[in-house]
Amino acid sequence: MVRSYTDQPVPPESIERILDAAVRAPSAGFSQGQRFIVVTDSDMRGAIAEAAGESDFVARGFNRWLSRAPVHIVICVDTQAYLGRYAESDKSGTDSWDVPYWWIDAGASLMAILYGAVDEGLAAGFLGGHAFTGLHSLLCIPGRIDIVGVVTIGHSAPDQRPRSLQKGRLPRDETVHHDHW
Ligand SMILES: Cc1cc2nc3c(=O)[nH]c(=O)nc-3n(C[C@H](O)[C@H](O)[C@H](O)COP(=O)(O)O)c2cc1C
Repeated sequence: MVRSYTDQPVPPESIERILDAAVRAPSAGFSQGQRFIVVTDSDMRGAIAEAAGESDFVARGFNRWLSRAPVHIVICVDTQAYLGRYAESDKSGTDSWDVPYWWIDAGASLMAILYGAVDEGLAAGFLGGHAFTGLHSLLCIPGRIDIVGVVTIGHSAPDQRPRSLQKGRLPRDETVHHDHW
């Protein structure tokens, strides 16, 4: 994940190819409940940045992250697409949703977007939906739609990784097991 970008614009055809990847991500029952808002307008990007309190972060010494990123992709899900699909006759239905598939599918689209950006020679970062206030009204998103978060995309500039990320990845034998746990 990259949290710092140059002012170089992202070609529209790159955005289209990244979106092709996003909408090709798998979805449970082929419910296709993932929804995306692509934001390139600089005023709107500034407003999204402020909805995440960017000026406060900048005042505390962090990079201007969201407002500088030339492209935002807001990842949303329509839960109703899953509830409707799983009520159809070829599905057994479920009322528990121990593992709500819409979050999994949003994650699959996020990963496709991240890889898609890298394929275009770009960089991307993700800020979770918890970080924003008022995005529904800012972006005119219907109330039944859940916002998962915002992916920023652009040309990478020297980054300032949060201290919590400097520890590196866990050793493989802590995360991968072979034949049994
Ligand atoms: C679901 C999810 C939520 C995340 N939320 C944030 C966030 O709110 N702020 C942030 O700076 N990074 C966020 N990240 C990014 C992670 O902190 C971290 O950068 C990433 O998992 C590690 O990838 P990297 O080594 O490529 O940076 C999030 C990642 C995921 C998958």
